[in-house]
Amino acid sequence: MPRPVLLDTDMGVDDAVAAALALSSPKLSVNGIVAVGGNVPLDQAARNIVRLLAGMAVENWPAVGRGLEPAAASPGGAAHVHGADGFGEIMLPVPAGFVPEDYRTLYTRLIEQHGASLNIVAVGPLTNLAAIHRECPGLLARAGQIVIMGGAVWCPGNITPHAEFNFHQDPAAAAEILGAGLPVTLVPLDVTSQVAIDESHAAHLLRSGTRAGELLARMIRWPMEHAADGRQGRFLVHDALAVGVLLWPDLFLSARLGIAVVVRGPQAGRSRPVIGKGATGKVTVVISVNVPAFLENMLGTLCRERFVV
Ligand code: RIB
Ligand code: CA
Repeated sequence: MPRPVLLDTDMGVDDAVAAALALSSPKLSVNGIVAVGGNVPLDQAARNIVRLLAGMAVENWPAVGRGLEPAAASPGGAAHVHGADGFGEIMLPVPAGFVPEDYRTLYTRLIEQHGASLNIVAVGPLTNLAAIHRECPGLLARAGQIVIMGGAVWCPGNITPHAEFNFHQDPAAAAEILGAGLPVTLVPLDVTSQVAIDESHAAHLLRSGTRAGELLARMIRWPMEHAADGRQGRFLVHDALAVGVLLWPDLFLSARLGIAVVVRGPQAGRSRPVIGKGATGKVTVVISVNVPAFLENMLGTLCRERFVV
């Protein structure tokens, strides 16, 4: 029985890899995808969700929701990483006339429908989750697990020396969700920064003959060409690991830790481990991944679908 998934995303290129992976896997049923601002402004993130679903020719679309802009959104988001449209500036039409639903009704409906079977995967700023947690007390706690890509626990940040991008965009939201005693599994930069795809993976995706493969191969070109010095030709698939934790848990090692998030000042968004008695709500923190096995499984899943064209 496929496991129900609700994906909360700021729909950049690595979000698209994560979403395509979840949509391509027979083990998962993506029942909802909700936009949050971050990599791109909120409405562009919502447009990118439907661009991806149409581009992959997904037959039974998940519910699509529109959430919020993060409290400390960086002007320009992460256009320097993902391109101005968030999808590597590829030609990919926006289906006309699509109207996403409000994120609150979508979260409420899926949690009430699936309860502890539901897997929430949050791969953008945690703004939507924190708003749900405040406005609908007890609702998020009814989900089975909440897998979050975010934070930098023992490694430097990627948007400031201290903070990872998702946490930096809304530090208060990250602090609230990580300190709420929710069933959180955190997949931090410490692990995701080890997993990059390169030209050989792009060629594999293109050769697969699948819509997901062809689309992603096109999408990752811009980020690989415009990557920061020394990283050209490689692209970090941060968000795909959050889906990987659901699909292949044996490829990851984790520890139970308290995580404290700095909410203001020059270190805003920094996530520190709280060891021992000081820890209030402990979460499961992924601390390592079998990189080659993850990449092999990810590519195998994305390239599995065959269309008779
Ligand atoms: O720091 C990496 C995270 O920030 C990823 O989710 C990426 O998509 C951006 O949102
Ligand atoms: Ca993201």
